Amino acid sequence: MSMEGPRAPRESELRGLYDFLNRELRPNSKWSIADEYPRALQDFNRHNMRVILEGERVLSHAVLKPFVIKTPIGAFKLAGIGSVVTEGGHRGQGLSTQVLESCLHAAESADCEIAILWTELYDFYRRLGFELAGSEVALQIDGELKSPARDLRFLDTAQIDADALLRVYNQHSVGTHRGVDDVREYLRIPNSRVCTAWDKHGKLVAYAIEGKGADLSGYIHEWGGGVGALTALISHMWKTRRSPEHGLTLIAPHHSENLIRTLTSMGVRRHDGHLGMIKILRHESIFAKVRRAARQQGIGDLVLERTKTDFRIGRGQQIYATQSEQDITRLLFGPALPHEIHSFDPSTAQALKSILPIPLWIWGWDSV
Ligand SMILES: CC(C)(COP(=O)(O)OP(=O)(O)OC[C@H]1O[C@@H](n2cnc3c(N)ncnc32)[C@H](O)[C@@H]1OP(=O)(O)O)[C@@H](O)C(=O)NCCC(=O)NCCS
Repeated sequence: MSMEGPRAPRESELRGLYDFLNRELRPNSKWSIADEYPRALQDFNRHNMRVILEGERVLSHAVLKPFVIKTPIGAFKLAGIGSVVTEGGHRGQGLSTQVLESCLHAAESADCEIAILWTELYDFYRRLGFELAGSEVALQIDGELKSPARDLRFLDTAQIDADALLRVYNQHSVGTHRGVDDVREYLRIPNSRVCTAWDKHGKLVAYAIEGKGADLSGYIHEWGGGVGALTALISHMWKTRRSPEHGLTLIAPHHSENLIRTLTSMGVRRHDGHLGMIKILRHESIFAKVRRAARQQGIGDLVLERTKTDFRIGRGQQIYATQSEQDITRLLFGPALPHEIHSFDPSTAQALKSILPIPLWIWGWDSV
């Protein structure tokens, strides 16, 4: 029988696709993988799924989910890619490569500026132009936090007001645009602990989410609120953690300096890592945002551009040329600092340091 695709699945093929994904990726789960990704693996996002089939049988799959993300230097359109899998008997034949290329093509057609995914198969994705980039700080809580007693009430339930959570979420400087329906769906993700802190007037002042379906058990991957209330909430979550032998780790963007400082001063251990694997899809569009941010800081002569042959970075006569896509991804999103990538002249180094890396962050609910 001949193979078909990559293409989007038909509505009538979705059930078979979920069965395939559950069999391959969630053999021991009591829930469907579609419940873990309510904004990606649902009918309304079917046009962003890609499958290769043999008759009715799915052999390979990946999904992309476009997001608009707010950052201090402007909004970006970003494609999260996930649930990448090829059936055991058909691996090593290039099927995932075809499926991923089709997803990337769809992401470009949807004007996405970057693609991001989470994986441990670094070399597999490097072949497709992805590079480990962006920053993540993991804060490992090993003991009780001495957080000041506060007049707060903690709730341990997902039955909470989605509007209230969204209001606190929207205070983040970096995050995807979400509507209240998104939050409602995310609150229904199985195998997840939703904890909230409320002040004496009944106002939500902090939230923290641990676990997400089969992933992120023991990790607080979504949180919000003021540092004081949040610290008290995390302290409560540690004392009442689901399994005492497991620790609790909060993952945070590099720019959450206040929270990181507060927790590390309480003895919490810090581990620095990457946000994910990133591939730039629209270089010029991102460069234009960086140049605009530079101009707003009074740096009018920053060169950051792509020519037919290479990338050019510098100021005045001091222009550095490179063909390394990898260097550009790391320069824009870190965690390497500009001077670790190239010894720029002092004036360029100063300019780049004031704008880069771009503080990118994807909250756990949005990871695909
Ligand atoms: C990883 C996976 C999706 C690859 O699917 P696939 O259809 O076999 O991929 P392809 O045939 O397109 O792979 C092409 C290349 O990647 C290489 N590759 C495959 N798996 C790899 C791995 N785990 N690490 C590094 N390279 C790998 C292959 O050797 C091949 O290289 P070649 O062309 O130089 O021979 C598949 O092995 C799989 O489903 N694994 C289980 C689920 C999983 O881990 N998914 C990834 C989640 S991020």
